[in-house]
Amino acid sequence: MSLTGGSSQDKLNVSLAATLPPPAPRDLVSLCVFGSGARDVGLCRAKGALLDAVRELVAAGDFKGEEDDSLLVGANDPKGARRVLLVGMGRHGDDDDTRGLRRAAAVAVRRANEAKARRLFFFMPACSDVARVARALAEGAHLGSYTNDFYQKKEDGGETSLAEFVVVTGDGDERVRAGVAEEAERARVVAESANWARALADEPGGSLPPVEFARRAAAMAGEFGLEVETLDAGEIRARGMGGLWGVGQGSDNPPALIVVRYEPEGFDGGDEELFAFVGKGITFDTGGISIKPAKNMEEMKADMAGGAAVLGALRAVAQLKPRRRVVGVVPSAENMPSGRSIKPGDIVRTFAGYTIEVVDTDAEGRLVLADGIAYAKSLGATRIVDLATLTGSIVVALGDHRAGLFSNDDSWATEVARAAARAGEPVWRMPVSDDYKKKIESDIADFKNYGGRPDATGAALLLSKFAAGTPWVHLDIAATAWLEEPAPHSPAGATGTGVRTLVELVMGDGG
Ligand code: BES
Ligand code: MN
Ligand code: ZN
Repeated sequence: MSLTGGSSQDKLNVSLAATLPPPAPRDLVSLCVFGSGARDVGLCRAKGALLDAVRELVAAGDFKGEEDDSLLVGANDPKGARRVLLVGMGRHGDDDDTRGLRRAAAVAVRRANEAKARRLFFFMPACSDVARVARALAEGAHLGSYTNDFYQKKEDGGETSLAEFVVVTGDGDERVRAGVAEEAERARVVAESANWARALADEPGGSLPPVEFARRAAAMAGEFGLEVETLDAGEIRARGMGGLWGVGQGSDNPPALIVVRYEPEGFDGGDEELFAFVGKGITFDTGGISIKPAKNMEEMKADMAGGAAVLGALRAVAQLKPRRRVVGVVPSAENMPSGRSIKPGDIVRTFAGYTIEVVDTDAEGRLVLADGIAYAKSLGATRIVDLATLTGSIVVALGDHRAGLFSNDDSWATEVARAAARAGEPVWRMPVSDDYKKKIESDIADFKNYGGRPDATGAALLLSKFAAGTPWVHLDIAATAWLEEPAPHSPAGATGTGVRTLVELVMGDGG
């Protein structure tokens, strides 16, 4: 029995069609309805009786087109009965807002699964950039097919799930169709990789200790032709990575440093950029001796979501094959209390040579990232992005609509923020400034790991000391990596956030 990856995303086939085929029993036809102002743009590619029926419903006010709303209705088509699913787009009328489209496609797929549909025909709304919109819809469809049920017994063998998502373009132009097909393929690669990362983050801590995390990374690397190297506990210690070692020392499950590399074929120059993605890989965070309260502690199985996103991004990059070197570094440990645990007041010596006083053992992410970032630099990184479920403080600051972006380099920060916006994973810039230096100044070590609130800025300032000299962005994804309650577009649990942003960044298109 497979303990992971049993989600249904592998089964969904996304394709394109100019028009609807004759109705079949388990088909569903979906149209977007925009909220006030732009109602018809979602309907424009539909024709005839179907379009009339939907227009009537909308005109009667039976469906208002609010975001995340959906309505399943039977509609009579002269060629036979069709089931029609209206999906609300809210105010997302604008072409550039692929976020609404991605989400609508995911909502439609989840409704289609509930309705036991086999094929879903999704009318593309009016837009100028057909390829871009098709990609967003295809991504949304794959993301929407993710299920978090791999530990639940399947009574019906999974046979009831949606098999086909067909984007109906209403456009006969072959060139447009070919371009769109390419985008749909990229969407599949990226969204499947995001779902792969999600499944890892949803995996219980008990079945994904650091060494197992490393094994999954190695299996993925083998499948997609990436180079992989894992430093085990002995090597972590021998190389002086006292941050990672210190966090992991209290657990019976030893730490691991996972390194995955992508090199374009025939790469020759050593002077080109090397993008390094560093992901926090705490497979379970109890807080250690500074132990957390019991409430919601189970969510701390996803404290490796940043690491999973880094690996997921490499998984996609390996298939998309850009002309750019990328390395993923995931310092992984389990933060546990025991007789061997690191204690408040202890001092660790990091890979970079700086010492850190451990004021709070629950501020462990910055300790492992300090070593991860320094190690990425030692590998020759010219640009760094780290992703981490780092602080409760960013949850308070931004809620789950934006990740916090911290940086030491304005142009790199802008590039990452733009990639994030294109990916539909928006960020909000936060300060990295010595104004906050009191939070990391120690009387007895070079730094300390905690100095009171606001902690997200203190954590970022500490990380900046290890990134110094290299353009670096830190994304605090503590809020965006996890969905507390099921939503129309997604089950509760890991979101896979970061994968799409990193892939956009590497592919570097779209401006
Ligand atoms: N993994 C947590 C941060 C976190 C909190 C992630 C909530 C996701 C949801 C991190 O290691 C942590 O424990 N941070 C503490 C630090 C503090 C005790 C110094 C925090 O933010 O409360
Ligand atoms: Mn912690
Ligand atoms: Zn943590």
